[in-house]
Amino acid sequence: MTTVSAPGKVYLFGEHAVVYGEPAVPCAIEKRATVTAELREDDHVRVEAADLSLNGFVVEYAGTTDHRPDVDVPQPLLDAAMGYIDAAVQQAREAADAPDAGFDITVESEIPLGAGLGSSAAVVVAGIDAATRVLGEPLDLRELADRAYNAEYEVQDGQASRADTFCSTMGGAVRVAGDDCTKLSTPTLPFVVGFDGGAGDTGKLVASVRELRDTYEFAADTVEAIGDIVSTGESLLAEADPNSEPSDELISELGDLININHGLLSALGVSSRSLDTMVWAAREAGAEGAKLTGAGGGGCIVALDRTAETQTSLRYTPGCEDSFRAELATEGVRVEDE
Ligand code: MEV
Repeated sequence: MTTVSAPGKVYLFGEHAVVYGEPAVPCAIEKRATVTAELREDDHVRVEAADLSLNGFVVEYAGTTDHRPDVDVPQPLLDAAMGYIDAAVQQAREAADAPDAGFDITVESEIPLGAGLGSSAAVVVAGIDAATRVLGEPLDLRELADRAYNAEYEVQDGQASRADTFCSTMGGAVRVAGDDCTKLSTPTLPFVVGFDGGAGDTGKLVASVRELRDTYEFAADTVEAIGDIVSTGESLLAEADPNSEPSDELISELGDLININHGLLSALGVSSRSLDTMVWAAREAGAEGAKLTGAGGGGCIVALDRTAETQTSLRYTPGCEDSFRAELATEGVRVEDE
Protein backbone atom coordinates (compact mmCIF):
# COMPACT_ATOMS: atom_id res chain seq x y z
CA MET A 1 0.00 0.00 0.00
CA THR A 2 1.35 3.44 -0.89
CA THR A 3 -0.01 6.87 -0.02
CA VAL A 4 1.07 9.92 -1.99
CA SER A 5 -0.08 13.53 -1.83
CA ALA A 6 0.20 16.34 -4.38
CA PRO A 7 -0.65 20.03 -4.02
CA GLY A 8 -3.26 22.16 -5.72
CA LYS A 9 -2.33 25.54 -7.19
CA VAL A 10 -3.39 29.07 -7.95
CA TYR A 11 -2.53 30.91 -11.14
CA LEU A 12 -0.59 34.08 -10.47
CA PHE A 13 -1.05 34.70 -14.20
CA GLY A 14 -1.74 33.05 -17.51
CA GLU A 15 -4.56 30.47 -17.39
CA HIS A 16 -6.32 29.85 -20.71
CA ALA A 17 -3.64 31.69 -22.73
CA VAL A 18 -1.21 28.92 -21.72
CA VAL A 19 -3.30 26.46 -23.76
CA TYR A 20 -2.10 28.35 -26.90
CA GLY A 21 1.59 28.37 -25.98
CA GLU A 22 1.68 31.66 -24.07
CA PRO A 23 3.60 31.54 -20.76
CA ALA A 24 1.81 31.06 -17.42
CA VAL A 25 2.93 31.15 -13.80
CA PRO A 26 0.99 28.81 -11.51
CA CYS A 27 2.02 28.47 -7.85
CA ALA A 28 1.47 25.32 -5.78
CA ILE A 29 -0.46 25.85 -2.54
CA GLU A 30 -0.69 23.89 0.69
CA LYS A 31 -4.00 22.22 -0.13
CA ARG A 32 -3.41 18.62 -1.08
CA ALA A 33 -5.06 15.63 -2.71
CA THR A 34 -3.97 12.36 -1.15
CA VAL A 35 -4.23 9.06 -3.00
CA THR A 36 -3.66 5.62 -1.53
CA ALA A 37 -3.17 2.71 -3.94
CA GLU A 38 -3.18 -0.94 -3.03
CA LEU A 39 -2.66 -3.79 -5.50
CA ARG A 40 -5.54 -6.21 -6.07
CA GLU A 41 -5.38 -9.81 -7.18
CA ASP A 42 -7.83 -9.22 -10.05
CA ASP A 43 -7.84 -6.50 -12.72
CA HIS A 44 -10.65 -4.46 -11.14
CA VAL A 45 -10.33 -0.91 -9.91
CA ARG A 46 -12.21 0.10 -6.79
CA VAL A 47 -12.29 3.81 -6.08
CA GLU A 48 -13.31 5.31 -2.80
CA ALA A 49 -13.44 9.08 -2.68
CA ALA A 50 -13.64 10.39 0.84
CA ASP A 51 -14.07 14.00 -0.19
CA LEU A 52 -14.01 15.48 -3.65
CA SER A 53 -16.76 17.95 -2.81
CA LEU A 54 -18.88 14.99 -3.83
CA ASN A 55 -20.10 13.88 -0.42
CA GLY A 56 -17.90 10.85 -1.03
CA PHE A 57 -18.56 7.79 -3.18
CA VAL A 58 -17.36 4.26 -3.81
CA VAL A 59 -17.30 2.61 -7.22
CA GLU A 60 -15.76 -0.60 -8.51
CA TYR A 61 -15.29 -1.34 -12.18
CA ALA A 62 -13.48 -3.58 -14.61
CA GLY A 63 -12.68 -2.47 -18.15
CA THR A 64 -14.60 0.81 -18.37
CA THR A 65 -15.85 3.43 -15.94
CA ASP A 66 -19.36 3.35 -17.42
CA HIS A 67 -20.88 2.34 -14.12
CA ARG A 68 -21.46 5.48 -12.13
CA PRO A 69 -21.99 5.58 -8.38
CA ASP A 70 -25.44 6.71 -7.35
CA VAL A 71 -24.63 9.93 -5.52
CA ASP A 72 -26.32 13.27 -5.43
CA VAL A 73 -23.76 15.37 -7.28
CA PRO A 74 -23.74 16.99 -10.71
CA GLN A 75 -23.01 14.34 -13.34
CA PRO A 76 -20.26 16.35 -15.10
CA LEU A 77 -18.33 16.63 -11.84
CA LEU A 78 -18.66 12.94 -11.17
CA ASP A 79 -17.70 12.06 -14.74
CA ALA A 80 -14.68 14.32 -14.43
CA ALA A 81 -13.60 12.79 -11.11
CA MET A 82 -13.93 9.23 -12.40
CA GLY A 83 -12.36 10.15 -15.72
CA TYR A 84 -9.25 11.60 -14.10
CA ILE A 85 -8.80 8.64 -11.76
CA ASP A 86 -9.26 6.17 -14.59
CA ALA A 87 -6.81 8.07 -16.80
CA ALA A 88 -4.26 8.02 -13.95
CA VAL A 89 -4.70 4.23 -13.59
CA GLN A 90 -4.18 3.77 -17.35
CA GLN A 91 -1.01 5.86 -17.28
CA ALA A 92 0.36 3.89 -14.33
CA ARG A 93 -0.41 0.53 -15.99
CA GLU A 94 1.31 1.68 -19.17
CA ALA A 95 4.35 3.12 -17.37
CA ALA A 96 4.87 -0.07 -15.37
CA ASP A 97 4.02 -2.33 -18.31
CA ALA A 98 1.30 -3.94 -16.21
CA PRO A 99 -1.86 -3.67 -18.35
CA ASP A 100 -3.92 -5.98 -16.11
CA ALA A 101 -2.99 -4.50 -12.74
CA GLY A 102 -5.97 -3.92 -10.45
CA PHE A 103 -6.06 -1.39 -7.61
CA ASP A 104 -8.00 -0.33 -4.58
CA ILE A 105 -7.74 3.43 -4.66
CA THR A 106 -8.72 5.90 -1.99
CA VAL A 107 -8.81 9.59 -2.74
CA GLU A 108 -8.99 12.25 -0.07
CA SER A 109 -8.82 15.84 -1.12
CA GLU A 110 -8.71 19.22 0.58
CA ILE A 111 -9.09 20.81 -2.86
CA PRO A 112 -12.61 21.43 -4.11
CA LEU A 113 -13.23 19.83 -7.50
CA GLY A 114 -13.42 22.06 -10.57
CA ALA A 115 -12.90 25.21 -8.51
CA GLY A 116 -9.71 26.42 -10.18
CA LEU A 117 -7.31 25.09 -7.56
CA GLY A 118 -5.96 22.22 -9.66
CA SER A 119 -7.81 19.38 -7.95
CA SER A 120 -7.78 17.13 -11.00
CA ALA A 121 -4.06 17.64 -11.60
CA ALA A 122 -3.30 16.88 -7.95
CA VAL A 123 -5.40 13.69 -8.02
CA VAL A 124 -3.81 12.57 -11.28
CA VAL A 125 -0.24 13.29 -10.13
CA ALA A 126 -0.71 11.60 -6.74
CA GLY A 127 -2.66 8.73 -8.36
CA ILE A 128 -0.03 7.91 -10.98
CA ASP A 129 2.77 8.16 -8.43
CA ALA A 130 0.98 5.95 -5.87
CA ALA A 131 -0.01 3.34 -8.46
CA THR A 132 3.44 3.10 -10.12
CA ARG A 133 5.07 2.85 -6.70
CA VAL A 134 2.88 -0.10 -5.62
CA LEU A 135 3.80 -1.71 -8.94
CA GLY A 136 7.48 -1.28 -7.99
CA GLU A 137 8.13 1.15 -10.89
CA PRO A 138 8.40 4.65 -9.41
CA LEU A 139 8.77 7.40 -12.02
CA ASP A 140 11.17 10.31 -12.01
CA LEU A 141 9.46 13.69 -11.59
CA ARG A 142 9.68 14.71 -15.27
CA GLU A 143 8.09 11.45 -16.45
CA LEU A 144 5.44 11.70 -13.74
CA ALA A 145 4.58 15.25 -14.87
CA ASP A 146 4.48 14.09 -18.51
CA ARG A 147 2.18 11.19 -17.76
CA ALA A 148 -0.08 13.34 -15.59
CA TYR A 149 -0.32 15.80 -18.47
CA ASN A 150 -1.23 12.94 -20.86
CA ALA A 151 -4.01 11.92 -18.48
CA GLU A 152 -5.44 15.47 -18.26
CA TYR A 153 -5.08 15.96 -22.00
CA GLU A 154 -7.12 12.83 -22.63
CA VAL A 155 -9.91 13.66 -20.17
CA GLN A 156 -10.09 17.28 -21.37
CA ASP A 157 -10.26 16.20 -25.04
CA GLY A 158 -6.92 17.68 -25.93
CA GLN A 159 -7.73 21.01 -24.26
CA ALA A 160 -5.06 21.02 -21.56
CA SER A 161 -1.70 22.65 -20.97
CA ARG A 162 1.14 21.25 -18.90
CA ALA A 163 0.74 23.99 -16.30
CA ASP A 164 -1.42 22.36 -13.62
CA THR A 165 0.23 18.94 -13.71
CA PHE A 166 3.82 20.28 -13.84
CA CYS A 167 3.12 22.66 -10.95
CA SER A 168 1.51 19.95 -8.82
CA THR A 169 4.40 17.56 -9.48
CA MET A 170 7.23 20.03 -8.81
CA GLY A 171 5.69 22.34 -6.21
CA GLY A 172 6.63 26.00 -5.75
CA ALA A 173 6.14 28.54 -8.52
CA VAL A 174 6.68 27.36 -12.07
CA ARG A 175 6.72 28.80 -15.56
CA VAL A 176 5.08 26.89 -18.38
CA ALA A 177 5.07 27.86 -22.05
CA GLY A 178 4.06 25.04 -24.38
CA ASP A 179 6.34 22.09 -23.60
CA ASP A 180 8.89 24.30 -21.88
CA CYS A 181 8.41 23.89 -18.12
CA THR A 182 10.76 25.31 -15.48
CA LYS A 183 10.77 25.95 -11.74
CA LEU A 184 10.99 29.58 -10.65
CA SER A 185 12.56 31.05 -7.53
CA THR A 186 10.13 33.60 -6.20
CA PRO A 187 9.61 35.33 -2.90
CA THR A 188 6.64 34.01 -0.92
CA LEU A 189 3.59 35.91 -2.08
CA PRO A 190 0.66 36.69 0.27
CA PHE A 191 -2.12 34.78 -1.52
CA VAL A 192 -5.69 34.91 -0.27
CA VAL A 193 -8.28 32.64 -1.90
CA GLY A 194 -12.06 33.14 -2.07
CA PHE A 195 -14.30 30.24 -3.09
CA ASP A 196 -17.93 30.63 -4.22
CA GLY A 197 -18.74 26.96 -3.57
CA GLY A 198 -19.21 26.34 -7.29
CA ALA A 199 -17.28 24.78 -10.12
CA GLY A 200 -16.67 25.32 -13.81
CA ASP A 201 -16.33 22.70 -16.53
CA THR A 202 -12.71 23.14 -17.64
CA GLY A 203 -13.15 21.34 -20.98
CA LYS A 204 -16.17 23.47 -21.93
CA LEU A 205 -14.59 26.74 -20.79
CA VAL A 206 -11.40 26.06 -22.73
CA ALA A 207 -13.48 25.14 -25.79
CA SER A 208 -15.45 28.40 -25.50
CA VAL A 209 -12.25 30.47 -25.42
CA ARG A 210 -10.93 28.53 -28.42
CA GLU A 211 -14.10 29.28 -30.37
CA LEU A 212 -13.91 32.97 -29.50
CA ARG A 213 -10.25 33.06 -30.47
CA ASP A 214 -10.97 31.35 -33.79
CA THR A 215 -13.87 33.73 -34.53
CA TYR A 216 -12.68 37.16 -33.40
CA GLU A 217 -9.34 38.85 -33.81
CA PHE A 218 -9.89 40.72 -30.53
CA ALA A 219 -9.96 37.38 -28.71
CA ALA A 220 -6.71 36.21 -30.32
CA ASP A 221 -5.17 39.57 -29.37
CA THR A 222 -6.51 39.18 -25.82
CA VAL A 223 -4.85 35.78 -25.48
CA GLU A 224 -1.56 37.33 -26.65
CA ALA A 225 -2.02 40.25 -24.27
CA ILE A 226 -2.31 37.79 -21.38
CA GLY A 227 1.04 36.36 -22.51
CA ASP A 228 2.52 39.88 -22.37
CA ILE A 229 1.21 40.34 -18.83
CA VAL A 230 2.86 37.09 -17.80
CA SER A 231 6.22 38.09 -19.33
CA THR A 232 6.10 41.44 -17.52
CA GLY A 233 5.22 39.70 -14.25
CA GLU A 234 8.00 37.17 -14.72
CA SER A 235 10.59 39.94 -15.16
CA LEU A 236 9.42 41.54 -11.90
CA LEU A 237 9.72 38.19 -10.11
CA ALA A 238 13.16 37.53 -11.60
CA GLU A 239 14.48 40.81 -10.16
CA ALA A 240 13.21 40.03 -6.65
CA ASP A 241 15.25 38.25 -3.99
CA PRO A 242 13.55 34.86 -3.47
CA ASN A 243 14.83 34.67 0.10
CA SER A 244 13.40 37.97 1.33
CA GLU A 245 9.93 39.27 1.93
CA PRO A 246 8.56 40.76 -1.29
CA SER A 247 8.76 44.56 -1.32
CA ASP A 248 5.60 46.69 -1.24
CA GLU A 249 6.50 47.92 -4.69
CA LEU A 250 6.69 44.37 -6.09
CA ILE A 251 3.33 43.38 -4.55
CA SER A 252 1.75 46.55 -5.89
CA GLU A 253 3.11 46.05 -9.43
CA LEU A 254 2.14 42.37 -9.47
CA GLY A 255 -1.29 43.40 -8.18
CA ASP A 256 -1.79 45.76 -11.13
CA LEU A 257 -0.90 42.99 -13.55
CA ILE A 258 -3.23 40.57 -11.75
CA ASN A 259 -6.10 43.06 -12.12
CA ILE A 260 -5.43 43.46 -15.84
CA ASN A 261 -5.19 39.69 -16.23
CA HIS A 262 -8.65 39.34 -14.64
CA GLY A 263 -10.07 41.96 -16.99
CA LEU A 264 -8.72 40.09 -20.00
CA LEU A 265 -10.13 36.76 -18.75
CA SER A 266 -13.50 38.48 -18.30
CA ALA A 267 -13.30 39.72 -21.88
CA LEU A 268 -12.82 36.09 -22.93
CA GLY A 269 -16.06 35.23 -21.13
CA VAL A 270 -14.72 32.96 -18.40
CA SER A 271 -15.53 35.03 -15.33
CA SER A 272 -18.90 34.89 -13.57
CA ARG A 273 -20.99 37.14 -11.38
CA SER A 274 -19.80 35.47 -8.17
CA LEU A 275 -16.14 35.56 -9.24
CA ASP A 276 -16.43 39.25 -10.15
CA THR A 277 -18.18 39.97 -6.83
CA MET A 278 -15.34 38.33 -4.89
CA VAL A 279 -12.70 40.09 -7.00
CA TRP A 280 -14.27 43.49 -6.24
CA ALA A 281 -14.74 42.65 -2.56
CA ALA A 282 -11.03 41.81 -2.35
CA ARG A 283 -9.97 45.00 -4.14
CA GLU A 284 -12.24 47.15 -1.99
CA ALA A 285 -10.79 45.53 1.12
CA GLY A 286 -7.35 46.70 0.03
CA ALA A 287 -5.96 43.73 -1.89
CA GLU A 288 -3.22 44.86 -4.28
CA GLY A 289 -4.80 42.75 -7.01
CA ALA A 290 -7.43 40.05 -7.49
CA LYS A 291 -8.34 37.70 -10.31
CA LEU A 292 -10.13 34.46 -10.98
CA THR A 293 -7.86 31.43 -10.91
CA GLY A 294 -8.08 28.37 -13.15
CA ALA A 295 -10.66 27.78 -15.83
CA GLY A 296 -13.26 30.14 -14.32
CA GLY A 297 -17.03 29.91 -14.71
CA GLY A 298 -17.26 29.69 -10.90
CA GLY A 299 -14.94 28.48 -8.18
CA CYS A 300 -12.07 30.55 -6.82
CA ILE A 301 -10.39 33.91 -7.00
CA VAL A 302 -6.89 34.68 -5.80
CA ALA A 303 -5.89 38.02 -4.30
CA LEU A 304 -2.62 39.50 -3.03
CA ASP A 305 -2.88 40.99 0.43
CA ARG A 306 -0.46 40.90 3.35
CA THR A 307 -3.13 42.06 5.79
CA ALA A 308 -6.13 40.10 7.11
CA GLU A 309 -8.57 42.56 5.46
CA THR A 310 -9.28 40.67 2.25
CA GLN A 311 -9.95 37.39 3.99
CA THR A 312 -12.26 39.07 6.49
CA SER A 313 -14.12 40.96 3.80
CA LEU A 314 -14.54 37.82 1.66
CA ARG A 315 -15.97 36.02 4.67
CA TYR A 316 -18.85 38.51 4.66
CA THR A 317 -19.24 38.76 0.89
CA PRO A 318 -22.52 37.28 -0.36
CA GLY A 319 -21.78 34.28 -2.54
CA CYS A 320 -18.36 33.61 -1.01
CA GLU A 321 -18.50 30.27 0.77
CA ASP A 322 -14.95 30.04 2.03
CA SER A 323 -11.85 32.18 2.17
CA PHE A 324 -8.38 31.30 3.33
CA ARG A 325 -4.75 32.29 3.15
CA ALA A 326 -2.92 29.99 0.74
CA GLU A 327 0.67 29.18 1.64
CA LEU A 328 3.06 28.38 -1.21
CA ALA A 329 3.68 24.60 -1.23
CA THR A 330 7.41 24.38 -1.82
CA GLU A 331 7.18 20.61 -2.04
CA GLY A 332 5.29 19.04 -4.94
CA VAL A 333 4.34 15.38 -5.02
CA ARG A 334 5.27 13.64 -1.78
CA VAL A 335 5.18 10.08 -0.48
CA GLU A 336 3.20 10.04 2.77
CA ASP A 337 3.35 6.34 3.53
CA GLU A 338 4.94 3.33 1.81
C1 MEV B 1 -7.22 25.16 -15.80
O1 MEV B 1 -6.80 25.02 -14.43
C2 MEV B 1 -6.24 26.02 -16.54
C3 MEV B 1 -6.54 26.19 -18.03
O2 MEV B 1 -5.51 27.07 -18.54
C4 MEV B 1 -6.50 24.88 -18.78
C5 MEV B 1 -5.10 24.28 -18.83
O3 MEV B 1 -4.11 24.99 -18.76
O4 MEV B 1 -5.03 23.05 -19.02
C6 MEV B 1 -7.87 26.86 -18.27
